[in-house]
Amino acid sequence: MPGPTVDLFADDALQQPAGREQIGEQSHVLRGYALPWIEHLLPALRCVLAQSPFRQMVTPGGFTMSAALSSCGELGWTTDPSGYRYTALDPRSGHPWPAMPETLRQLAAHAAADAGFSDFVPDACLINRYVPGAKMSLHQDKNERCYTAPVVSVSLGLPAIFLFGGHARSDKPQKISLFHGDVVVWGGVDRLRFHGVMPVKDGTHPVMGPQRINLTFRTAG
Ligand code: SIN
Ligand code: FE2
Repeated sequence: MPGPTVDLFADDALQQPAGREQIGEQSHVLRGYALPWIEHLLPALRCVLAQSPFRQMVTPGGFTMSAALSSCGELGWTTDPSGYRYTALDPRSGHPWPAMPETLRQLAAHAAADAGFSDFVPDACLINRYVPGAKMSLHQDKNERCYTAPVVSVSLGLPAIFLFGGHARSDKPQKISLFHGDVVVWGGVDRLRFHGVMPVKDGTHPVMGPQRINLTFRTAG
Protein backbone atom coordinates (compact mmCIF):
# COMPACT_ATOMS: atom_id res chain seq x y z
CA MET A 1 0.00 0.00 0.00
CA PRO A 2 1.34 3.47 -0.88
CA GLY A 3 2.44 5.79 1.92
CA PRO A 4 1.64 9.51 2.22
CA THR A 5 4.36 11.80 0.85
CA VAL A 6 2.93 15.24 1.55
CA ASP A 7 1.71 16.88 4.72
CA LEU A 8 -1.97 16.40 4.11
CA PHE A 9 -2.88 17.81 7.51
CA ALA A 10 -1.16 21.17 7.09
CA ASP A 11 -4.22 23.44 6.93
CA ASP A 12 -6.70 20.98 8.27
CA ALA A 13 -6.62 21.63 12.00
CA LEU A 14 -10.02 19.99 12.41
CA GLN A 15 -8.87 16.64 11.07
CA GLN A 16 -9.81 13.90 13.51
CA PRO A 17 -7.19 11.42 14.74
CA ALA A 18 -7.20 8.10 12.86
CA GLY A 19 -9.54 5.58 14.40
CA ARG A 20 -12.87 3.90 14.04
CA GLU A 21 -16.09 5.50 15.25
CA GLN A 22 -19.25 3.47 15.39
CA ILE A 23 -22.26 5.47 14.17
CA GLY A 24 -24.79 2.64 13.90
CA GLU A 25 -25.13 -1.05 14.65
CA GLN A 26 -23.30 -1.89 11.40
CA SER A 27 -21.94 1.55 10.45
CA HIS A 28 -18.55 3.10 11.07
CA VAL A 29 -16.49 6.15 10.27
CA LEU A 30 -12.86 5.18 9.57
CA ARG A 31 -10.97 8.41 10.21
CA GLY A 32 -8.18 9.20 7.77
CA TYR A 33 -8.45 5.71 6.30
CA ALA A 34 -7.92 6.82 2.69
CA LEU A 35 -4.91 9.07 3.38
CA PRO A 36 -2.25 6.41 2.69
CA TRP A 37 -3.96 5.69 -0.66
CA ILE A 38 -4.28 9.28 -1.83
CA GLU A 39 -1.06 9.43 -3.82
CA HIS A 40 -2.30 6.62 -6.08
CA LEU A 41 -5.98 7.43 -5.84
CA LEU A 42 -5.83 11.01 -7.17
CA PRO A 43 -4.12 10.27 -10.51
CA ALA A 44 -6.54 7.36 -11.03
CA LEU A 45 -9.48 9.64 -10.30
CA ARG A 46 -8.15 12.30 -12.67
CA CYS A 47 -7.92 9.70 -15.43
CA VAL A 48 -11.54 8.57 -14.82
CA LEU A 49 -12.79 12.16 -14.88
CA ALA A 50 -10.96 12.88 -18.15
CA GLN A 51 -13.08 10.12 -19.73
CA SER A 52 -16.37 10.85 -17.95
CA PRO A 53 -16.32 14.45 -16.69
CA PHE A 54 -18.56 15.79 -13.94
CA ARG A 55 -21.96 16.88 -15.12
CA GLN A 56 -25.02 18.39 -13.51
CA MET A 57 -27.96 15.94 -13.47
CA VAL A 58 -31.70 16.53 -13.21
CA THR A 59 -33.92 14.55 -10.82
CA PRO A 60 -37.21 12.96 -11.89
CA GLY A 61 -38.86 15.86 -10.04
CA GLY A 62 -37.17 18.32 -12.42
CA PHE A 63 -34.57 19.71 -10.00
CA THR A 64 -30.96 20.13 -11.05
CA MET A 65 -28.75 18.51 -8.40
CA SER A 66 -26.27 20.91 -6.80
CA ALA A 67 -23.58 18.21 -6.67
CA ALA A 68 -22.07 17.35 -10.06
CA LEU A 69 -21.78 13.62 -10.77
CA SER A 70 -19.73 11.06 -12.61
CA SER A 71 -19.14 7.32 -12.19
CA CYS A 72 -16.72 4.53 -12.85
CA GLY A 73 -17.08 0.78 -12.78
CA GLU A 74 -19.30 -1.66 -14.67
CA LEU A 75 -22.34 0.42 -13.71
CA GLY A 76 -22.83 4.14 -13.18
CA TRP A 77 -25.67 5.86 -11.37
CA THR A 78 -27.63 8.45 -13.29
CA THR A 79 -30.77 10.46 -12.95
CA ASP A 80 -32.83 12.30 -15.51
CA PRO A 81 -36.49 13.32 -15.76
CA SER A 82 -37.49 9.70 -16.41
CA GLY A 83 -35.96 8.31 -13.20
CA TYR A 84 -32.98 7.15 -11.15
CA ARG A 85 -31.08 4.12 -12.40
CA TYR A 86 -27.78 2.37 -13.02
CA THR A 87 -26.55 2.18 -16.60
CA ALA A 88 -23.62 0.39 -18.24
CA LEU A 89 -23.06 3.34 -20.60
CA ASP A 90 -22.29 6.94 -19.74
CA PRO A 91 -25.32 8.71 -21.28
CA ARG A 92 -23.13 11.70 -22.08
CA SER A 93 -20.66 9.81 -24.27
CA GLY A 94 -22.63 6.70 -25.16
CA HIS A 95 -19.55 4.68 -24.14
CA PRO A 96 -19.11 2.39 -21.12
CA TRP A 97 -18.23 4.18 -17.89
CA PRO A 98 -14.47 4.22 -17.22
CA ALA A 99 -13.25 1.03 -15.55
CA MET A 100 -12.96 1.22 -11.77
CA PRO A 101 -9.25 1.74 -11.04
CA GLU A 102 -7.77 -1.12 -9.03
CA THR A 103 -6.59 1.25 -6.26
CA LEU A 104 -10.16 2.44 -5.72
CA ARG A 105 -11.60 -1.06 -5.73
CA GLN A 106 -9.00 -2.20 -3.21
CA LEU A 107 -9.43 0.78 -0.93
CA ALA A 108 -13.18 0.14 -0.84
CA ALA A 109 -12.73 -3.59 -0.20
CA HIS A 110 -10.20 -3.01 2.61
CA ALA A 111 -12.38 -0.39 4.29
CA ALA A 112 -15.44 -2.63 4.06
CA ALA A 113 -13.52 -5.55 5.59
CA ASP A 114 -12.24 -3.37 8.44
CA ALA A 115 -15.81 -2.29 9.12
CA GLY A 116 -17.04 -5.87 9.27
CA PHE A 117 -18.00 -6.62 5.66
CA SER A 118 -15.56 -9.05 4.10
CA ASP A 119 -15.59 -9.90 0.39
CA PHE A 120 -17.00 -6.57 -0.77
CA VAL A 121 -16.79 -6.45 -4.57
CA PRO A 122 -18.06 -3.08 -5.78
CA ASP A 123 -19.18 -2.77 -9.40
CA ALA A 124 -20.17 0.91 -9.21
CA CYS A 125 -18.44 3.99 -7.87
CA LEU A 126 -20.45 7.18 -7.91
CA ILE A 127 -18.31 10.32 -7.86
CA ASN A 128 -19.90 13.46 -6.43
CA ARG A 129 -18.35 16.91 -6.62
CA TYR A 130 -19.55 19.56 -4.19
CA VAL A 131 -18.48 23.15 -4.67
CA PRO A 132 -19.20 25.43 -1.67
CA GLY A 133 -22.97 25.64 -1.23
CA ALA A 134 -23.67 22.28 -2.87
CA LYS A 135 -25.49 19.65 -0.80
CA MET A 136 -27.20 16.28 -0.99
CA SER A 137 -30.73 15.95 0.38
CA LEU A 138 -31.64 13.04 2.65
CA HIS A 139 -32.12 9.89 0.60
CA GLN A 140 -31.67 6.12 0.72
CA ASP A 141 -29.33 4.26 -1.62
CA LYS A 142 -31.84 1.80 -3.00
CA ASN A 143 -31.35 1.49 -6.76
CA GLU A 144 -28.98 -1.45 -6.20
CA ARG A 145 -30.24 -4.92 -7.06
CA CYS A 146 -29.68 -6.27 -3.57
CA TYR A 147 -28.69 -4.81 -0.22
CA THR A 148 -26.41 -7.47 1.21
CA ALA A 149 -23.31 -5.44 0.27
CA PRO A 150 -22.49 -2.28 2.24
CA VAL A 151 -21.99 1.25 0.91
CA VAL A 152 -18.44 2.58 1.24
CA SER A 153 -18.04 6.36 1.05
CA VAL A 154 -14.69 8.14 0.72
CA SER A 155 -14.46 11.88 1.43
CA LEU A 156 -11.84 14.10 -0.22
CA GLY A 157 -11.18 17.81 -0.01
CA LEU A 158 -13.28 20.32 1.91
CA PRO A 159 -14.95 19.09 5.10
CA ALA A 160 -18.68 18.51 5.18
CA ILE A 161 -21.38 17.60 7.65
CA PHE A 162 -22.76 14.18 6.82
CA LEU A 163 -26.31 13.53 7.93
CA PHE A 164 -26.88 9.95 9.02
CA GLY A 165 -30.54 9.34 9.64
CA GLY A 166 -32.72 6.36 10.39
CA HIS A 167 -35.08 4.24 8.34
CA ALA A 168 -37.74 6.92 8.08
CA ARG A 169 -37.11 10.23 6.39
CA SER A 170 -38.46 11.98 9.48
CA ASP A 171 -35.92 10.33 11.86
CA LYS A 172 -33.60 13.00 13.22
CA PRO A 173 -30.18 12.47 11.62
CA GLN A 174 -26.85 12.41 13.44
CA LYS A 175 -24.51 15.15 12.21
CA ILE A 176 -21.04 13.81 11.51
CA SER A 177 -18.18 16.01 10.31
CA LEU A 178 -16.25 14.30 7.52
CA PHE A 179 -12.73 15.35 6.50
CA HIS A 180 -10.29 14.64 3.69
CA GLY A 181 -9.48 10.93 3.80
CA ASP A 182 -12.35 9.82 6.04
CA VAL A 183 -14.28 6.73 4.98
CA VAL A 184 -17.82 5.84 6.07
CA VAL A 185 -19.14 2.30 5.76
CA TRP A 186 -22.79 1.39 6.35
CA GLY A 187 -24.43 -1.94 5.65
CA GLY A 188 -26.40 -4.85 7.09
CA VAL A 189 -29.23 -3.56 9.25
CA ASP A 190 -28.11 0.01 8.48
CA ARG A 191 -27.88 -0.41 4.70
CA LEU A 192 -31.05 1.54 3.91
CA ARG A 193 -30.65 4.35 6.41
CA PHE A 194 -31.38 7.84 5.11
CA HIS A 195 -28.31 10.01 4.64
CA GLY A 196 -27.30 13.30 3.08
CA VAL A 197 -24.80 16.14 3.14
CA MET A 198 -25.33 19.68 4.44
CA PRO A 199 -24.29 22.58 2.18
CA VAL A 200 -20.48 22.58 1.95
CA LYS A 201 -18.94 25.69 3.51
CA ASP A 202 -16.67 28.06 1.60
CA GLY A 203 -13.02 27.17 1.65
CA THR A 204 -10.03 25.86 -0.23
CA HIS A 205 -8.50 22.53 0.65
CA PRO A 206 -4.70 22.39 0.38
CA VAL A 207 -4.75 19.24 -1.75
CA MET A 208 -8.14 19.31 -3.49
CA GLY A 209 -8.81 23.05 -3.86
CA PRO A 210 -12.23 24.68 -3.42
CA GLN A 211 -14.31 21.50 -3.55
CA ARG A 212 -15.31 18.29 -1.84
CA ILE A 213 -15.28 15.07 -3.80
CA ASN A 214 -17.03 11.99 -2.49
CA LEU A 215 -16.74 8.48 -3.85
CA THR A 216 -19.45 5.97 -3.00
CA PHE A 217 -18.85 2.36 -3.81
CA ARG A 218 -21.72 -0.09 -4.11
CA THR A 219 -22.51 -3.50 -5.49
CA ALA A 220 -25.29 -2.47 -7.81
CA GLY A 221 -25.85 -5.24 -10.35
C1 SIN B 1 -24.17 10.07 -1.43
O1 SIN B 1 -24.95 9.70 -0.58
O2 SIN B 1 -24.29 9.74 -2.62
C2 SIN B 1 -23.04 10.98 -1.11
C3 SIN B 1 -22.66 11.07 0.31
C4 SIN B 1 -21.53 12.04 0.51
O3 SIN B 1 -21.25 12.88 -0.35
O4 SIN B 1 -20.89 12.00 1.59
FE1 FE2 C 1 -26.31 8.07 -0.96
